[in-house]
Amino acid sequence: MCGIFAYLNYRVPRTRKEIFDTLVKGLQRLEYRGYDSAGIAVDGTRKEGNGSICLFKKRGKVKALDEVLCKNDSIYLDAELDVHFGIAHTRWATHGEPSAVNSHPHRSDKNNEFVVIHNGIITNYKELRKYLNSKGYEFESDTDTEVIPKLIKYLYDNREHDFVSFSTLVERVIQQLEGAFALVFKSIHFPGEAIATRRGSPLLIGVRSKYELSRDQIPIQYNGDFIGGVQKKNFRNRVDSSTSLHSVCDRKAVEFYFASDASAIIEHTNKVVYLEDDDIAAVAEGKLSLHRVSRSAGEESARVIQTLQMELQQIMKGNFKAFMQKEIFEQPESVFNTMRGRICFDTNTVVLGGLKDHLKEIRRCRRLIIIGCGTSFHAGVATRQILEELTELPVMVELASDFLDRITPVFRDDVCFFISQSGETADTLMALRYCKDRGALTVGVTNTVGSSICRETDCGVHINAGPEIGVASTKAYTSQFVALIMFALMMSEDRLSLQKRRLEIISGLRQLPALIKQVLALDEHIKSIAEELYQQRSLLVMGRGYNYATCLEGALKIKEITYMHSEGILAGELKHGPLALIDKDMPVIMVVMRDACYTKCHNALQQVTARQGRPIIICCRDDPEITRCAYKNVELPQTVDCLQGILSVIPLQLLSFHLAVLRGYDVDCPRNLAKSVTVE
Ligand code: AGP
Repeated sequence: MCGIFAYLNYRVPRTRKEIFDTLVKGLQRLEYRGYDSAGIAVDGTRKEGNGSICLFKKRGKVKALDEVLCKNDSIYLDAELDVHFGIAHTRWATHGEPSAVNSHPHRSDKNNEFVVIHNGIITNYKELRKYLNSKGYEFESDTDTEVIPKLIKYLYDNREHDFVSFSTLVERVIQQLEGAFALVFKSIHFPGEAIATRRGSPLLIGVRSKYELSRDQIPIQYNGDFIGGVQKKNFRNRVDSSTSLHSVCDRKAVEFYFASDASAIIEHTNKVVYLEDDDIAAVAEGKLSLHRVSRSAGEESARVIQTLQMELQQIMKGNFKAFMQKEIFEQPESVFNTMRGRICFDTNTVVLGGLKDHLKEIRRCRRLIIIGCGTSFHAGVATRQILEELTELPVMVELASDFLDRITPVFRDDVCFFISQSGETADTLMALRYCKDRGALTVGVTNTVGSSICRETDCGVHINAGPEIGVASTKAYTSQFVALIMFALMMSEDRLSLQKRRLEIISGLRQLPALIKQVLALDEHIKSIAEELYQQRSLLVMGRGYNYATCLEGALKIKEITYMHSEGILAGELKHGPLALIDKDMPVIMVVMRDACYTKCHNALQQVTARQGRPIIICCRDDPEITRCAYKNVELPQTVDCLQGILSVIPLQLLSFHLAVLRGYDVDCPRNLAKSVTVE
């Protein structure tokens, strides 16, 4: 999905080269979201009066854009700029093919008076375009975004008074826009100023202030922190804090970072402000102010500066070939982190802090509805059976898009769970708003603190898996799985008849990180299987019961990063169609674990071998009856039936990774896909 990054330095002198490097680095941190072109806008050389803005746009990777910037000799890279605002964007094509002209920043006119970067979709762009065309504004791209810079120029050209503020113009623009957006504006009419706003697409601002002492200043401490300097001549023995603070503000050097997600900001600062829908953030003279469009004039929005807990190291690849591989291997820790501080293994109790105040209400509900997309939906499928067993409630598991298409009836006594790694997936977010409107209690299960789903749900669980960068979701799945199991355990705490089962599961969870390590140790073996399979066109993954979700999730991993056709098949459906696909040439992976479905899976296996199928079997260790039928097998440690899916999905994650590498594909950024799908 598109990525926004922008950087404003105020009284922090930076060469143009340093500014380019910061912008390019910011875009690189967003590459994982998926994109097909990139662009940057910076100040050009100053002519009389207003400055100029230079645009650099390129189809393809950020690296290619960086090469263009380095080779460009029309712009003086060593020039030092005391105050500057640069904007940058990675585009994922929706309206118009991937090309330089369709990529962002988009401009108002040939003089680049206003330039804009945009994430999201403007749904009424055709009407706006028609109107602006009729007023003589010419368009150069096929995008929905281009109406925005044209519209702001139109409003600027037709302003009633000579002076109009930048934020007033933006406010008027967004009043005309329908759809979803995060926007950052730059203009030659407002040099050194930045405006950012959002509706439906995430946007945050990082702030780093630095107090530089000049020779005639002495340092000041405030509440024990170094906060700046005061002119020596103003300094008396006892510093009057208001005078000194005022003089510090006057000399304040500050940098602002605007981004569509925190991973682009964290290396610069951990102090961030998350914008809410219809907030307009304006930076002028090094000062950030925020207001909300719908509020009465002049009223400021109260937004707290949050401190990000994320570490840069957490988003670096380390010794791994790809983020996806790193994230697969992080699962012993990520799963442990999901349980940390929530399960007490001594007392066998589970407390999810974000849900405990709502437990009574949840216990009284009519049914649980679990809603998500892709992998997050699969986490719901994987845990549905144990949720039904331990909560004794009906559980529906829904794909967000289908749930909305059906206009599914939802009632006040329903409890709706929204599962999302990013917390920003448009379909899931819309389903959340739909359920909220109908009075249901909404629960978020997300991996991204401060995300829209986090903020808009009534309560929730943070899965604490750490940043997931690879487009293919891996550790988020196993942590979502564990989070939902913990919820089921919490719900059944005082059910006597369920205690034995609960204890068995809690003890299984305790062993889980160690068992995951044992599965990861099979990596070389799995790689050797990938070497046999990587030239195939198709791969079926079959299983049932607790491991049906494993098959769906494994097949999704394979198709999304290897581009092989892959299907997760419920073994119970074999005779109803898929059996026709089986012959000696069709690669089939079968998941046959020792659980209530064992015999039925064994039967399916025989159906496959009877048709000369050569199954690769994922099974429990020491099961000769099964391994005897296998062409190849992957033997896993056994755990409690409802947790086995956490172990059995890992060989499929590893297999998809090795297949993609062998086929020569970019594992972390598969074609046509984005990490965070913030459009419908
Ligand atoms: C899985 O590997 C995906 N890339 C995708 O299916 C993803 O799980 C889906 O888009 C939902 O994302 P979310 O968890 O961030 O809401």
